[in-house]
Amino acid sequence: LPVLPDVQLSLRPGIVDFSWGHPDLALLPAGDIAGAAGQALADAGGAALSYGAEQGPGRLLEQLAAWLARDEGAAPPLDQLMITGGVSQALDMLCTVLTRPGDAILVQSPAYHLALRIFHDHGLHLVPVAADEGGLQPGALAEALAGLAHEGRKANLLYTVPVFSNPAGVTLAPERRPAVVQMAQRAGLLVLEDDVYHQLWYDVPPPPSLYSVAPAGPVVRLGSFSKVLAPGLRLGWLVAAPDIVRRCAGSGMLDSGGGVGHFVAHIVAAYMAEGRLDDHVVTLRAAYLARRDALLAAMSRYLPQGCSWLRPGGGFFVWLRLPAGVDGTALLAAAEAAGVSFVPGARFYAGPAGEDGRESCRLAFTLLPVEQQKEGIRRLAAVLAGAP
Ligand SMILES: Cc1ncc(COP(=O)(O)O)c(C=O)c1O
Repeated sequence: LPVLPDVQLSLRPGIVDFSWGHPDLALLPAGDIAGAAGQALADAGGAALSYGAEQGPGRLLEQLAAWLARDEGAAPPLDQLMITGGVSQALDMLCTVLTRPGDAILVQSPAYHLALRIFHDHGLHLVPVAADEGGLQPGALAEALAGLAHEGRKANLLYTVPVFSNPAGVTLAPERRPAVVQMAQRAGLLVLEDDVYHQLWYDVPPPPSLYSVAPAGPVVRLGSFSKVLAPGLRLGWLVAAPDIVRRCAGSGMLDSGGGVGHFVAHIVAAYMAEGRLDDHVVTLRAAYLARRDALLAAMSRYLPQGCSWLRPGGGFFVWLRLPAGVDGTALLAAAEAAGVSFVPGARFYAGPAGEDGRESCRLAFTLLPVEQQKEGIRRLAAVLAGAP
């Protein structure tokens, strides 16, 4: 009988695989979640297993608002906060509620490739906006808006990962933030601020969110328990103006099925009430910092001349620029034959990747133990040494 997989992750024997932006299973707190599940059922009984409030259970909204206040200095008002099924479900829901096929959406470039897939699912027209070491470039945003206006079109959404971006690991500079928000406000754009890596900083905390520049203004801030706790929970949140929260919570899907992840939301509320989340995030930061530093050290030691990269201050990824003329997509087959894998840079572009995109690849450092990372980089270096 064929055996269907339980998880997305599938590791191939003999390959050190830097392509997965996944946590190590050993870092997922199964025992504590089991305890919180028991506590949630003891506390709420059948209410934990009923259809949930569309906005999410109040007991989690309150815990979460207090937790978010620690990063931002102020808790979001409870009519501006909603529980989601993670960033992926939130993006899908926002597209359902706010867009029609053929609408234009501006996307940071390069951007999280699987968010781009969600926008494609909704038939949206993707318009790239270039980002550099300082994140999204306000000048490129102005050009993209002018280009659309020239074609007689208008975008209503801008998707950006302003902190420790996937794939490039860059953070939107504090001095660019007011400009981005003001441009969005003027252009009638809603900014989808995908802030999944905000809490996973390894050197210094990131700047306050784009949302905090103009609370309840043109920004929807998306967060997730996937990166700070466990992706299998499929639980996250959004912070937005009350009318956006009302439109999402009033969608047909939630009206029919109740709030997403209702029982899981009770488990996470119990977990947070025990004060465990902060300790867990500290543990993750220490583990990922060690893995990031091991990867960077191996890259410095083994990779040949012509390779370059930025040191990501947090998140899951290092964006490697390959020597001129080396195409990441073309390199992949040779790399896998030599026992190492990655995601080629071109995958993260909504349009043509250009040289910068093609001559790059994304390396994730969260899944693999330090020794394997070192071995993987040694193999990659050997392949590059033989690359044309
Ligand atoms: C930028 C970004 N957004 C969203 C996600 C997925 O988030 P979630 O698990 O909450 O759906 C990821 C996961 O890799 C990501 O890197």
